[in-house]
Amino acid sequence: MRLSRLFRENHGQHEMRTHGRKNGFVTQGQEQRLTHCLPKIGLPVGKHLDDSGFSPSLPVVMEIGFGNGDFLVHLAKTHVTWQLLGIEIYLPGVAKAVGRLDDAGVLPRCRISQTPAQVVLSQQISAEHLHGIYINHPDPWPKKRHHKRRLIQQDFATLMVSRLKVGGFIRLATDKPDLAIWMQKILDHTAGLENTAGVGGFIVRDDDRPFTKFEQRGLKEGRDSEFLHYIKVKNVQQLP
Ligand SMILES: C[S@@+](CC[C@H](N)C(=O)[O-])C[C@H]1O[C@@H](n2cnc3c(N)ncnc32)[C@H](O)[C@@H]1O
Repeated sequence: MRLSRLFRENHGQHEMRTHGRKNGFVTQGQEQRLTHCLPKIGLPVGKHLDDSGFSPSLPVVMEIGFGNGDFLVHLAKTHVTWQLLGIEIYLPGVAKAVGRLDDAGVLPRCRISQTPAQVVLSQQISAEHLHGIYINHPDPWPKKRHHKRRLIQQDFATLMVSRLKVGGFIRLATDKPDLAIWMQKILDHTAGLENTAGVGGFIVRDDDRPFTKFEQRGLKEGRDSEFLHYIKVKNVQQLP
């Protein structure tokens, strides 16, 4: 369905050029739910997370590229003291996830943005604010000439570290072996981060993780996923 003008005017996304899909089919019911929920839990461009109504005394954990919300809903249900910030540029994913979070009764502890993670992190979150960042199955962009489109780049890794508290974590998963190595090489050499499995290591899959859509797809195609876990061990020169 084409989004109504009212929705586009009120919840228009950021214009930063991204290569993934942004729009797609959203039912009328989903649009109504988004229109109802986003004024309370949306984090539109220009609004800072500090002004979003989150409690300053509870941890904030972010998921980047939450897809249809499988993992975000799981986090909200299993970590009842966490405040969750979910970022996803694909509107039908946002619509599904908001519906599920609302049905699960956990929406008040969530903030949702359809703005690219690069913009949210650099413009809407203070330095040393986050307790953790999850990135599950980021787009692989397999062709060499498209590698520059991959989410994990050196600048982006440095930006993530600057927004984490000391002791905070970055956890990643992918079912694409070359992307696993790509992310590991960048993050292993990012100042302030320590790979909990040692340089060049991967962690074993947590038993309590849900299987996200892309992990399941990998398994159907015969690929086990790899998992990475980093801790921010010290502050480094801060970005503005
Ligand atoms: C391959 S899907 C994985 C979805 C989900 N995490 C899973 O494991 O099933 C990658 C997701 O990242 C989103 N994405 C891509 N670039 C992004 C960006 N810059 N900021 C936020 N989300 C992004 C895409 O729209 C897509 O939904």
